Amino acid sequence: MENENRNAQKGMQLPNPHLAQMTDDNLYHFGISRTSHDLPALFGDVKFVCIGGSARRMENFAHYIGNELGVVSENERLPNLAGNSDRFVLYKAGPVLSANHGIGVPSMSVALHELLKMLYYAGSRDVTFIRIGTCGGIGKSFSHAMYGTCVSTGVPPGSVIVSNAAVNGKMEHAFETVVLAKGIHRPIIVDQELASEISSCSRTEDPFKIILGKTYCTDDFYEGQARTHGAVCDISEEDELQFVKHLNSQGVKNIEMESAGFFALCHKAGVKCSVVCVTFIDRLSTEDVTADADVLSEWTQRPQVLVARFIKKRLVISV
Ligand code: URA
Repeated sequence: MENENRNAQKGMQLPNPHLAQMTDDNLYHFGISRTSHDLPALFGDVKFVCIGGSARRMENFAHYIGNELGVVSENERLPNLAGNSDRFVLYKAGPVLSANHGIGVPSMSVALHELLKMLYYAGSRDVTFIRIGTCGGIGKSFSHAMYGTCVSTGVPPGSVIVSNAAVNGKMEHAFETVVLAKGIHRPIIVDQELASEISSCSRTEDPFKIILGKTYCTDDFYEGQARTHGAVCDISEEDELQFVKHLNSQGVKNIEMESAGFFALCHKAGVKCSVVCVTFIDRLSTEDVTADADVLSEWTQRPQVLVARFIKKRLVISV
């Protein structure tokens, strides 16, 4: 792909002519500016940027991947490089950056713009971006005489979905945003090779499923994801069930709130990217996340384990 070749050959290039005229650039939400930090020295060797919603999860991931790569020792605590800001956190473990992006595309895109510029100013090359997230899942259900209820087999909670397609809230393969008060559409392009490479890091002994599938990206957790238990609601439980069944019939495997903007912005910027999320619930069975904190915490590590294997494979570290 034209954009990707551009960034594989040279240091990262960004499609914004204004950047070349700027003598400084304040990456405000990370509390880092082009002149306050030696960006090439700090980030020039970065090869992977892993982002996810929660600050604590991404701090944990930084330590986990650092241990796995042998660049962070067991009791070592990495500094938060975005310590001057209370918006996002940023950790570096060898060639891996780990940052949080908050909830939803608007927050994620602020983080992504600034991370892209950080690595552009650093002169980083051939960088892969991966979103490590949580999501709702959609499995196929069937009635089972033994249980007397609907049983879901396709995407049990705790499954890991590697997106091989993503659609926006209107089920379009385009990310819709507003610039100069006009709606614009940017294509959602998924790197199939990268998605397959990551999902192929599964192992037969993994106690969870790893599924390549289509992701439905919404702008809201409640009504936007056909939930009826938000503070306001104009849809019925029947509407919810029919809609989730419709998503299922369209091959959607999971629902989250960032993939459309993430894929579209990374493609526009010319960097390779992938989205790897663990499902917390099966939306064909329930709308509420009810698993207890310990279970959710173990599930949350599953995409991290898969992504760590991928990174080690790429860095040719025995896995
Ligand atoms: N994140 C979402 O956006 N939806 C869910 O159901 C779970 C996590």
